[in-house]
Amino acid sequence: MSLSGRVFKFVHYEVDAEKEILDYSKIAAMAWEEKPKILLSGFTAYPRKIDFQKMHDIAKEVGAVSMVDMSHISGLIIGGVHPSPFPFTDVVTTTTHKTLRGPRAAMIFCKEEYKEKIDKAVFPGMQGGPHEHTIAAVAVALAEAQKPEFKKYAEQIVKNAQALAETLVGEGLRLISGGTDNHLMLLDLRPFGPGRGIFLEKALEAAHITVNKNPIPNDPSPPYYPSGVRLGTPALTSRGMKEDEMKLIGKWIAVLTKEFAKTEMPEEKEKRAAAVKDFAQSLSRHPLVKEIGAEVKKFASKFPVPGIDQ
Ligand SMILES: Cc1ncc(COP(=O)(O)O)c(C=O)c1O
Repeated sequence: MSLSGRVFKFVHYEVDAEKEILDYSKIAAMAWEEKPKILLSGFTAYPRKIDFQKMHDIAKEVGAVSMVDMSHISGLIIGGVHPSPFPFTDVVTTTTHKTLRGPRAAMIFCKEEYKEKIDKAVFPGMQGGPHEHTIAAVAVALAEAQKPEFKKYAEQIVKNAQALAETLVGEGLRLISGGTDNHLMLLDLRPFGPGRGIFLEKALEAAHITVNKNPIPNDPSPPYYPSGVRLGTPALTSRGMKEDEMKLIGKWIAVLTKEFAKTEMPEEKEKRAAAVKDFAQSLSRHPLVKEIGAEVKKFASKFPVPGIDQ
């Protein structure tokens, strides 16, 4: 369990079971019941826009501090393609290494009244000397984010995610909430059976496509063997790929999904790790992995990695 999980008592709200999006009236009802000290929004695998104003209003109604962790979407917010939690939210946090495209670090913004407590909690509460080199790199990332090219980057991330989502849906695959408004999407593999995310993660990795297994709403399987896969477009966008490339990548992902998400996860817990290991070892010999993997390698080499190839 993470430190925040030990320090705070978390009570989770869920997305609507059918629409798979946030239901603000249910969140409000739960907030009235629980009377939380903090009402937190900002997620790791939510493909839709978040109404931060509504979350703030609910927090104020029940006497809670409103807090947004905008780590995933801070680049999209700066680029103007996702609504901002400023200036109304009480406390906003962000890492700087996701869509903001900076070094691994984080920032905390807050209203004046919380400043002293938060400053003290960071130093001497949790941290010692500052990492000046990282702070300099954050400054560079923020300067980059002010440029018109960054806005174009943010816009293209969303266009690319939507093109990828449409391709996957067009290929007959199911996405949580049917698509995306932001940089990511969640592939629902339940139609193939429970717990298939890890097999698809490994198969795509063997073909040089990086995704991660991810729990989905109402997942019938445990978090370590979840029934979904999370895909995102920021890295591909940074390499200069656009909608046409997303269609091609989406087709490769669909072919590999249909082949490998069929793989059954043993019901007996103790047999699962061995099943995954055997599966992963068999991949390099699989003709489809060899064929698509070679195509992916050739294709990717046409798109330089900024800072490495350029
Ligand atoms: C919403 C959100 N906030 C914060 C983090 C923390 O990021 P890291 O562990 O890279 O510092 C993550 C990580 O995925 C995240 O998804």
